[in-house]
Amino acid sequence: MTMNRSPASLGGSPAAKVPGETKTRADSTPSRKRSRSDCASESPIKDQQPAKRRSPRRCNGDREENCIGNHNGSLANGKQLGSPKSPRKRLFGPSNQKPKWNPRDPAQMQAAKQALHLATPPANVVCREVEQKRVIDFCKACIQQSKAGSLYVCGCPGTGKTLSIGKVQEHLLVWSKEEGIQSPDILTINCTSLTSTTEIFSKMLVKFRPTSKIKNFSPLQHLQKIFSQKGQSSGRMMLIVADEMDYLITKDSSVLHDLFMLTTLPFSRCILIGIANAIDLADRFLPKLESLNCKPVVITFRAYSKDQILKILQQRLMVLGCDVFQSAALEFCARKVAAASGDIRRAFDICRSAIEVLEAELRDPTEKKETEIVSFDHMDIAISKSCKSPLVNIIRSLPQHQQVILCSLVRLFRQRKNSTALGEINRSYLDICKSTQIRPIGMTEFADMCRALADQGLLELANSRKDRSKKIKLKVDVSDITFAFKGIRFFQNCLE
Ligand SMILES: Nc1ncnc2c1ncn2[C@@H]1O[C@H](COP(=O)(O)OP(=O)(O)OP(=O)(O)O)[C@@H](O)[C@H]1O
Ligand SMILES: [Mg+2]
Repeated sequence: MTMNRSPASLGGSPAAKVPGETKTRADSTPSRKRSRSDCASESPIKDQQPAKRRSPRRCNGDREENCIGNHNGSLANGKQLGSPKSPRKRLFGPSNQKPKWNPRDPAQMQAAKQALHLATPPANVVCREVEQKRVIDFCKACIQQSKAGSLYVCGCPGTGKTLSIGKVQEHLLVWSKEEGIQSPDILTINCTSLTSTTEIFSKMLVKFRPTSKIKNFSPLQHLQKIFSQKGQSSGRMMLIVADEMDYLITKDSSVLHDLFMLTTLPFSRCILIGIANAIDLADRFLPKLESLNCKPVVITFRAYSKDQILKILQQRLMVLGCDVFQSAALEFCARKVAAASGDIRRAFDICRSAIEVLEAELRDPTEKKETEIVSFDHMDIAISKSCKSPLVNIIRSLPQHQQVILCSLVRLFRQRKNSTALGEINRSYLDICKSTQIRPIGMTEFADMCRALADQGLLELANSRKDRSKKIKLKVDVSDITFAFKGIRFFQNCLE
């Protein structure tokens, strides 16, 4: 996948076309089951769960001065920092000077990590204004003209696609209310959660026509009927957001084609927004969709640049009202991530890891440095850890079946205990092979692979006459394994 292609064509517009009758084609089940979006909270850093925000009012006594990171989102745009009611002023007094962050205060430390946590929704989506406006304008035009249409939103992982389209939906609901226009009925589907690709049609039918049933028709045929005959569909527009749409790819791509075709039926009310990583999906499917006269408008989310990453990080940290990072440290992180992938999740991970480097330094009694803020050096260590860790490199360069075995171990050890029998690991390994459709190796080879992993110091294998009852222990941290596989969809599926 490359991101250097020219911006995709904007040629498509809400279109209407009388279709031929479309037959239901053989269904197929998506083989992959999880999205990166779903893995948003997965992190190699142990302290992952965002703590509950504390109300500034709950902070008492001298702690009050140090209580940060508990403001509501409206602070994040920075505009309210100077207002008399700003939480910062409440907490730090009327002084115009920036309060100092105290990394020794666990609450402040937690607040800083939380601000950088993926599960913490940002108050604003910065750096995606242009893309969001294009989606909003498109949807508004469809709604105002009661016209169906389709959009295809694509871009590399962690470029804010899901986040931006979520914000667009919120915006459209507010806008239609303000304008006194009937708001669209919205259905958001993460295609990874579908049990079969054609389930998308039954979900649409249930959402938009929960009561109607026509015997001997599939949900797709039913939708086609509704959108082909006058007076069948209600006047309300339907916004369908199909996230991780590449999961709908079948051998003959029929589900994707049928889905987009629904927007071209003469009485269609569908505004379809498909979201996917694959830039090449556009190349592969657009020509066909074009020939079917249902080519969607394509909006590409380019990988974040260094300046954009920096801006997003700064915006996230603004809620704290004080400096947690040296600006050179943040810039360094933004530069490295932009050069590597432009995936904002990586930048958040590295920044949280840099905070932990500082935390460890403060815990170390031999460390004499007077560290009060995350410095360039802390960031350097965090970046090295994430990019150059020898262990991570070893794990990444293992043969695939050994990597899958490690995933099986993570799955078992994440839930409970820290040692198990080889037979149980083998069962977990077989489950993964089945769900990811890779051919499993036999038991003897499996035991050999476990021995090879033990030889590399990744696990400990106790002696036992029977292979199946040999006890296994992980010798590395679960987080090292999840980190090594981070961003690789296949292994993220294995780890679920
Ligand atoms: N512009 C932004 N401003 C603030 N936070 C952002 C921005 N873009 C992304 N994020 C953060 O990064 C996370 C990942 O973004 P998102 O899920 O939208 O990526 P995506 O492009 O959909 O990735 P994928 O292709 O893997 O599904 C979001 O949950 C959000 O916390
Ligand atoms: Mg997404």
